[in-house]
Amino acid sequence: MTKQMLCRGGLLRWVVQLLRTLLLRIMSHFKAELQTSYSSPSLQIVPKYVPIPRVKGLPIVGTLFDLIAAGGAPHLHKYVDARHRQYGAIFREKLGGTQDAVFVSSANLMRSLFLQEGQYPQHPLPDAWTFYNKRHDCQRGLFFMEGAEWLHNRRILNRLLLNGNLNWMDVHIESCTRQLVDRWQTSIEQAAANGEHYELPDLERQLYRWSIEVLCSIMFGSRVLNCSEMQCALDEFSQIVHKVFEHSSRLMNFPPRLAQLLHLRIWRDFESNVGEVLQQGASIIELCISLQRAQPPSEQEQEEALYHKLQAAAVPSEMIKRIFVDLVIAAGDTTAFSSQWALYVLSCDQPLQRRIARERAAAESQLLHGLIKEALRLYPVAPFIGRYMPQDTQIGGHYVEKDTLVLISLYTSGRDPAHFEQPLKVLPERWILGQTEQVHQSHGTLPFAIGQRSCIGRRVALKQLHMLLGKCASQFSMQCLNEQPVDCILRMVTVPNQTLRLALTLQPKVAAL
Ligand code: HEM
Ligand SMILES: *[C@@H]1O[C@H](CO)[C@@H](O)[C@H](O)[C@H]1NC(C)=O
Ligand SMILES: *[C@@H]1O[C@H](CO)[C@@H](O)[C@H](O)[C@H]1NC(C)=O
Repeated sequence: MTKQMLCRGGLLRWVVQLLRTLLLRIMSHFKAELQTSYSSPSLQIVPKYVPIPRVKGLPIVGTLFDLIAAGGAPHLHKYVDARHRQYGAIFREKLGGTQDAVFVSSANLMRSLFLQEGQYPQHPLPDAWTFYNKRHDCQRGLFFMEGAEWLHNRRILNRLLLNGNLNWMDVHIESCTRQLVDRWQTSIEQAAANGEHYELPDLERQLYRWSIEVLCSIMFGSRVLNCSEMQCALDEFSQIVHKVFEHSSRLMNFPPRLAQLLHLRIWRDFESNVGEVLQQGASIIELCISLQRAQPPSEQEQEEALYHKLQAAAVPSEMIKRIFVDLVIAAGDTTAFSSQWALYVLSCDQPLQRRIARERAAAESQLLHGLIKEALRLYPVAPFIGRYMPQDTQIGGHYVEKDTLVLISLYTSGRDPAHFEQPLKVLPERWILGQTEQVHQSHGTLPFAIGQRSCIGRRVALKQLHMLLGKCASQFSMQCLNEQPVDCILRMVTVPNQTLRLALTLQPKVAAL
């Protein structure tokens, strides 16, 4: 008995010995190979993944109650921000008990995520929308496409909206923006004639209308905006698109399928509203087409319209309609609220307004550029960008399995002192080349995402912001009248927690430096 055990023990020892030798051989082999590529001081052959901290929650409902206690969906970005403070730059949580997601907030983890997003990056879609599309068998634009269909159309739009010579669309953006700012100027003059101060009325609706106008003139040329029928259609359209986002934000913390089954008001409102938007969007296209038939555009006008560029690229008209309506929906609230945030930031800093005005008079734009970067960094309208991982992968030494939803916490990363010196301060100078000590990681702010599935409207939106803020700084002196501190809440996009009140007065023309 003991002899047998000894024997077995001996065998065991021998096997272990053999394995050790083999292991050593393999290790030295790897070491030699590794040292030629990287000179890594310590060596691990078995990849050792650092576990991702998991936020503990109740079964089924997960951490839903914590989220509700924190103020619910409108405060999601703050809730996640607090989690990052508690758990670090990466953690895992079953938010609301339905969706298990990994949250990341450091520039390095974010970069690593985009590098591994795959050929057809997949982002999460709002439940209410996908449910609507399925129920109504509705074919949608770029944001809702996937796979080869997405890539095909995305490539065409990349060429037309992001790369190459884009002066043709600047003409339209400039013209719409000039009209808006000139209207403000006239109103200030009228108010001043009556000895009154001028406070911008209905700022949100005005900016909404402006961003939709910009998109329509990019699509069909500025001329279509000139007829009264079109103006009426646009008024109506901007009102109902605006409502969409109220309705879908109400559905944000309620399962849409259940709302539909229970025949709840929130679902019925949403459903009828989305139906209206899609219909009104399509009829605007029809109107434009018939206007053009009545008065054919010149060759130059054709060259300055996305619609003709898409036709020239052999995109079928059904597809053009789908794409257009979704561009408008994606452009409306993002641009309108980014502009509001930038106006807010600028209105809090009178000396900066003067500096930007002087800079513009000297045909420079560094400070203006920096101001817009700062507004988007502190107030990213899309505070969470998500990707489903196309395969098992590792992100910053953490193992992440296929199909996991990874969400980037842009609100947190933009305010992280590891990325930006004095992160809560608006310092446009930090973006001027050569002042990099105030920016440790420029990738800490990615308001439009990066990679293949990043925002297709980035160029349009940035140009709009530049023109609006630049003109405002040159023509007006702006002051924020809100008495309470302004903070951001999430209503599909991040919006101010109160109506912004901006007072404008005329600014005498400034001479160049
Ligand atoms: C400041 C304004 C804007 C911001 C901050 C913004 C932000 C973003 C972000 C972060 C994404 C990526 C979403 C994801 O990957 O899941 C995105 C996608 C998209 N954006 Fe924007 N956006 C803005 C303006 C616009 C405008 C003006 C348009 C239209 C001209 C537009 C059209 C789109 C479309 C169609 C997509 C989907 C692209 C795709 O799936 O391939 N956006 N936007
Ligand atoms: C729009 O109409 C006005 C006058 O009705 C005209 O002065 C202007 O040139 C027109 N704009 C375009 C782009 O056709
Ligand atoms: C907005 O948020 C700020 C900061 O949290 C707060 O002081 C203010 O009372 C809020 N205003 C409203 C109207 O909720």
